[in-house]
Amino acid sequence: MEYRFSTNVANLKSSAVRDILKLTQGQDMISFAGGLPAEELFPVQAVREAADRVFSAGTGALQYGLTEGFHPLREQLCGRMAAKGMKVAPEEMILTTGSQQAIDLLIGVLTEPGDTVLVEKPTYLASLQVFALHGLKVVAADSDEFGMIPEAAEELIKQHGPKLMYAVPTFGNPTGRVWSEERRKRMLELCKQNGMLVIEDDPYGDIKFEQGEHYSTLFSLAGGAQDNPVIYTSTFSKTVAPALRTGWAIGDSRVIRMMAKAKQAADLHSSTMDQQILSQLLSGFDLDAHISVISKEYGDRMREMHGLLMQKGLPDMSWLKPKGGMFLWVELPEGLDAEALLRCAVGKGVAFVPGVSFYANEPKRNTARLNFTHNKGARTIQGVERFVEAIGEFTVRS
Ligand SMILES: Cc1ncc(COP(=O)(O)O)c(C=O)c1O
Repeated sequence: MEYRFSTNVANLKSSAVRDILKLTQGQDMISFAGGLPAEELFPVQAVREAADRVFSAGTGALQYGLTEGFHPLREQLCGRMAAKGMKVAPEEMILTTGSQQAIDLLIGVLTEPGDTVLVEKPTYLASLQVFALHGLKVVAADSDEFGMIPEAAEELIKQHGPKLMYAVPTFGNPTGRVWSEERRKRMLELCKQNGMLVIEDDPYGDIKFEQGEHYSTLFSLAGGAQDNPVIYTSTFSKTVAPALRTGWAIGDSRVIRMMAKAKQAADLHSSTMDQQILSQLLSGFDLDAHISVISKEYGDRMREMHGLLMQKGLPDMSWLKPKGGMFLWVELPEGLDAEALLRCAVGKGVAFVPGVSFYANEPKRNTARLNFTHNKGARTIQGVERFVEAIGEFTVRS
């Protein structure tokens, strides 16, 4: 039998992170590859109690539910969004199967194959998979420490007329970078002037290492939900647990209604049970206190890994010290190919993601993303030692 797959699927690259995760199943493999939260910090007891309350209340959690999502959870989330300066009503919100599905639905309802999307260079790799699956062209603007560079974006907008911009302005994946307030306003202005919509993807905004810092979302800078060019998406994956597969999108109710139609075709609705557990969790557990605990721990883990790289790193390596999120972005010595380095590193028992995966085009091959949230102490020390050893050995060999 010859299976003739659609062109978009046939051209789709498998996620490098998932492929690397397959390689890292062995006990002795230390993985800095996946964006995995620390399992020992999952609020297991609180989730168990929330689940007990859900099942004590009856059988509703096992029934089909609304495509837009469990209404009480949407109301609770509207309260949490308002506290961040994003005032929305439940009709301006949809719950999705992770924020990954929100990105996919948004691209499905807002674009046609052949349209162009503007992204940062580098950007979140599974967003690139969504764009490829929907047959979009991707143009990537250079970024610096303040975020996407408006002049670079403007040039690309003139040349390619993108329909929308996709961005992770707070603790980006892979770089951990935060856009400055000025850049946020400038990029928003540029998108508005050119009639472009914006998908603001914010899974990491709550994971802040410096508690006093405040970052305005693009959504809040652009006004209320109606007529807002920005559609904002976030998730419980990094603050509670990824297995609950619950994310959300907020935006103009016309966009949300279209997403609901597309979601009916995709999966009818996300898990009623997971949403009801989360709703119970929000009413019986101090999620903000939990977020402070994980943010503090992740900050410590980041400083640990950063300190080790400073001590052991090669002189011509550089890295950003993130103020939040889950990743350290490393520039390896010029000319070093991180994909080839990975093979050597895996042989030594450490894995990371080569930066090439995060570029739509013109990759910087000497870059790597290291996750610092999933390991600590002896494992982080040993992992960094193996990583640096691999670089040393690889540089000598090649
Ligand atoms: C930037 C970004 N967006 C979206 C997601 C998807 O998260 P989820 O579908 O678990 O909510 C991730 C996951 O790592 C991410 O890093």
